[in-house]
Amino acid sequence: MKVAVLGAAGGIGQALSLLLKNGLPAGSELALYDVAPVVPGVAVDLSHIPTAVKVAGYGKDDLDPALAGADIVLIPAGMPRKPGMDRADLFNVNASIVRTLAEGIVKNCPKAFVGVITNPVNGTVPIVREVFKKAGTYDAARVFGVTTLDVIRAETFIAELKGLDVSEVKVPVIGGHSGTTILPLLSQVAGVEFSDEEVASLTKRIQNAGTEVVEAKAGGGSATLSMGAAAARFCFSLVKGLQGEENVLEYAYVEGNTGDAEFFAQPIRLGKNGVEELLPYGELSAFEQKAKDDMLATLEKDIKEGVDFMA
Ligand SMILES: NC(=O)c1ccc[n+]([C@@H]2O[C@H](COP(=O)([O-])OP(=O)(O)OC[C@H]3O[C@@H](n4cnc5c(N)ncnc54)[C@H](O)[C@@H]3O)[C@@H](O)[C@H]2O)c1
Repeated sequence: MKVAVLGAAGGIGQALSLLLKNGLPAGSELALYDVAPVVPGVAVDLSHIPTAVKVAGYGKDDLDPALAGADIVLIPAGMPRKPGMDRADLFNVNASIVRTLAEGIVKNCPKAFVGVITNPVNGTVPIVREVFKKAGTYDAARVFGVTTLDVIRAETFIAELKGLDVSEVKVPVIGGHSGTTILPLLSQVAGVEFSDEEVASLTKRIQNAGTEVVEAKAGGGSATLSMGAAAARFCFSLVKGLQGEENVLEYAYVEGNTGDAEFFAQPIRLGKNGVEELLPYGELSAFEQKAKDDMLATLEKDIKEGVDFMA
């Protein structure tokens, strides 16, 4: 298994690479690519950790060898938010970074499974699709917007609020990955009752959790450590699916079949082909139905921005 991390010297990239170095199956290869000159050092640093995962660093001009033969590519490259910024404000800078990296994937590992972390995820995933389509290599089962951070935040906040064991709490989060497009389905959390006030305040907290971190970091960036953990969890699930494990379920922003928007985060079963099965997100409460209806225009606008960028 070769996993390439593009943007590996960044806040997310380093945290994620550390977790992959410690958690990928023995014999795996970890390829760390970044335009920042520190990336070979990050690779040397990680290579001293005694696990059977081989690490190599690749600088600015070495995207091709970094990607050659990769099975999984994770993309956390690009600018994070500063206080006062919306994820959509990152589009202009990050769109062209994602396009360039997607072109590299087409050239070097067109069959790879690609997890896009770079914001705004609602618009960067459509860019990847358009690049792949143009090259004739697009397979919707292989392209994912990583929304796992929304899921782990929801799990954590609910466990805290209700005094539960967080490892037992499962929360579906559907929609997109910014503001009101993030929709946790609290009505489906097994064995937990919420008052209307709790539903309103928890939903808002989950939607604004990224901003909570951005403000607490006071200009020092956005979520990196929790995002590293979220992306690692998603990657390990992908690996399990690829290795033939059954019933590997995750939520991700995919070109799916909910009929809500072209791209939508929904439950998926992972397997040897990436998305093995698109699963329905089930029944919504009246609150969730309204929140979904209200968010669709924003999500569609975000998706169109990505598609238009490539046109
Ligand atoms: N999906 C999510 O849930 C989620 C959560 C948090 C942050 N993010 C996003 O992830 C991205 C990275 O965040 P971060 O905090 O790690 O930022 P960071 O600034 O710490 O790291 C970004 C890295 O990308 C590198 N980079 C820039 N252009 C590149 C290119 N063309 N090729 C390769 N590498 C390149 C930079 O050199 C840097 O090392 C941001 O867009 C952020 O908004 C996504």
